Amino acid sequence: MDCRFVDDLQTNQEKINNFLCLGSGYVGVLTMTVFASQYKNKKFIINDKFKNVIDKWNNSGKILRKSIENINKDDVQSNLPIVEKNFHNLFSNVFNENLFFKNFYSDEEILATDVVFVCVNTPSLYSNKIKTNISIEQIELEIKRGIEHDMRNVFDCLEELCERILQSKNLLSIFKERIIIQKSTVPIETLKLIKDKIFKFFKNNRTRILEIIDAKNSHLLEYFEYDHKIFEYVSKYFKLVNIPEFLAEGSAINNLLCPDRVLLGYIKDDKESYRASLIIKSIYEKWIDKEKIILLDSTSSEMTKIVSNAFLAQRISSINSITGICELYGADINILSQTVGMDSRIGKNYLKASMGFGGSCLKKDTLSLIFFLSSNNLVVEANYWTQVLVLNEFQRLRISEKIKNCSLKRNKTVTIFGLSFKGDTNDVRGSNSIFLISYLLNHNVQIKLYDPLVTKYELENELKMYDNDESQWVNMTYCDFYLDSLIDSSVLVFCNNHSYFNNFEMEKLYLKMNDDACLFDLYDIFCLENMKKIGFKVFKLGVNDLNPNNFINI
Ligand code: UDX
Repeated sequence: MDCRFVDDLQTNQEKINNFLCLGSGYVGVLTMTVFASQYKNKKFIINDKFKNVIDKWNNSGKILRKSIENINKDDVQSNLPIVEKNFHNLFSNVFNENLFFKNFYSDEEILATDVVFVCVNTPSLYSNKIKTNISIEQIELEIKRGIEHDMRNVFDCLEELCERILQSKNLLSIFKERIIIQKSTVPIETLKLIKDKIFKFFKNNRTRILEIIDAKNSHLLEYFEYDHKIFEYVSKYFKLVNIPEFLAEGSAINNLLCPDRVLLGYIKDDKESYRASLIIKSIYEKWIDKEKIILLDSTSSEMTKIVSNAFLAQRISSINSITGICELYGADINILSQTVGMDSRIGKNYLKASMGFGGSCLKKDTLSLIFFLSSNNLVVEANYWTQVLVLNEFQRLRISEKIKNCSLKRNKTVTIFGLSFKGDTNDVRGSNSIFLISYLLNHNVQIKLYDPLVTKYELENELKMYDNDESQWVNMTYCDFYLDSLIDSSVLVFCNNHSYFNNFEMEKLYLKMNDDACLFDLYDIFCLENMKKIGFKVFKLGVNDLNPNNFINI
C-alpha cells in the first residue's frame, strides 16, 4: 500500500463530504438535520451509544416517511422523540436520504469521516437528589460552591473514536485529516484539554502504531519518534474547533437557520485548528451571513457560551426579584417588563416574570461559572452569580409555598397544567412544575396533573431526581383529559405557557371545580378581571397578592 496522506484536506469545503455526529440528543439531531438539508450531497451519520435511542429515531423516522408517502404532509402526526417547531418537515426530507442514525459506526465510515461533531450531554456533576424541602439559606450554601460539568461523555466518546481508528489498523484512517468540532457545553479551557487527552492516548499507544506502520510507509514512523512529533500528529489529524450552541427549545430550527452569531473557537497558536475553523466557516457561509460568523480563540468561545447563559439567567432573576414587591403594592410586573424593556439600552428580551427559569442549561452553566470563579478565588464575583441562582430557587419556593397554603386552607386537591420547563415543548428537565409537584408531595397535598405534550413516563422519570420517594406518588394523578383533572379540585395552577392553554374556555373549567376555586396564573395567560368575573379567586404572579379586596387570602 502506498500511502500519500499528507494535505488531502484543502481549505475548501467541497472536499468535506462525510460527517459523523457523536450524540443523538437535542443539539446533535437538530444541528445535523439543518446541515443535511443545506447539503443534500453530503452524508451525515448520527451515532449514539444507547441502542434504544437510535432505534427510536429509526422507527419513528420510518413511520413518518411511510405516512408522508401516503397522505398529505401537514396531516402527519409525529412520534419523533423531539417536539420542535419546523423540525418535522425538514427531518422527513433528509432522514435515510443523507441523514442516518447508527448505533455503531464501521471502519469504512470512520475512514470516510471528514468532520466529527461532539454533541454528547455534559450534565452538572451533581449526584444528590434535588431538594424542595430545605431553607433558602441551605440552598445558598449548596450553590456557593458551584458545580462543574460532568465531562465523562465528551472524553469517553473521543477516546472510543481514537481507539476505533487504531483498531482498524488502517494507515489511511490513522493518517486521515479530520476536523473535530466540540459542541457540548463545557468548562473553560476544555478544547486544550481534549487535545492533551488525544495526545496522551497516542503517546500511550505508540507501540501499537509502530507495529501497524509497514516498511513501505516508514516515513510515517517519524510522527511517533518523539513526544513533540506526536503532538504535531494530533494537531494535524485531529483539528479541533469549539462551536458553542445557542439553541433555545421551541425556536431551535430558526436559531440554526438564522443565528444571531456562530462562534468558531480555535486553539491559540495552533495553525491547524485555525485552518479548520476557516474550513468550517466556509461550510456555514452557505446559509449564514459572513459577518455573523466569528473566529475567536477557544477560551473566549467557551467562555462566551457559559457567560451568555449566565446573563440570560441574571435577567430573569432580576425581573423576578421585583415580583414580590409588585404583588404587595399592586403594580403590574408585566407592564414593568414592557416599560423597562422599552429603554433600548436594556432591551425587552428575557424580562418576562415567571416562577423561575427551568431547563437544562441556565442553571447548569451558571453553576459552572460560579465553580470556575470560586476555584480561582474570585469570591466576590462568585457570590454575585450565586445570588442569581438563589433568587431563582427562592422564587420557586415562594410560589410553591403560596400554592400549598392555599390548598391546605381548603383541604383539597391542586390541579397543575403544564409540566414542561417552558411552553410548547415536552422537555421536563429543571421544570418548575416538577419542583412544585415534589414540594407539594412532601407536604402531603393531593395533586392532579395534565399536560398535552408530556407523558406520564417522562414526568415520573424526572420526579425520581427529587427528594421524595415513590410511595408518595399515590397522592398524584396524571390525567389524559384536562377537564377530568379538575374534579374535586379547588386550586388550578398554570405552571407553563403552552399556547394550547390560550384557547381554554375558562368558564367550563371553573364549573368543573369545587366552590371557592383559586387560579394561579404564573405566566400571564389570562386577564385578571375576566377571571374574577367568572368567579375565580386569582393569584397573578407579579400583579396581586394578599390584598383582601381583590385576592385570595392565603
Ligand atoms: C437556553 C438558552 O436560551 C440557549 O441559548 C442555550 O443554548 C440553552 O439554554 P432553553 O433552555 O431552551 O435555552 O430555554 P430559554 O428559552 O432560554 O428559557 C429558559 C427558561 O427561562 C425557561 O424556563 C423559560 O420559561 C424561562 N424564561 C425565559 C423566563 O422565565 N422569562 C423570560 O423572559 C425568558
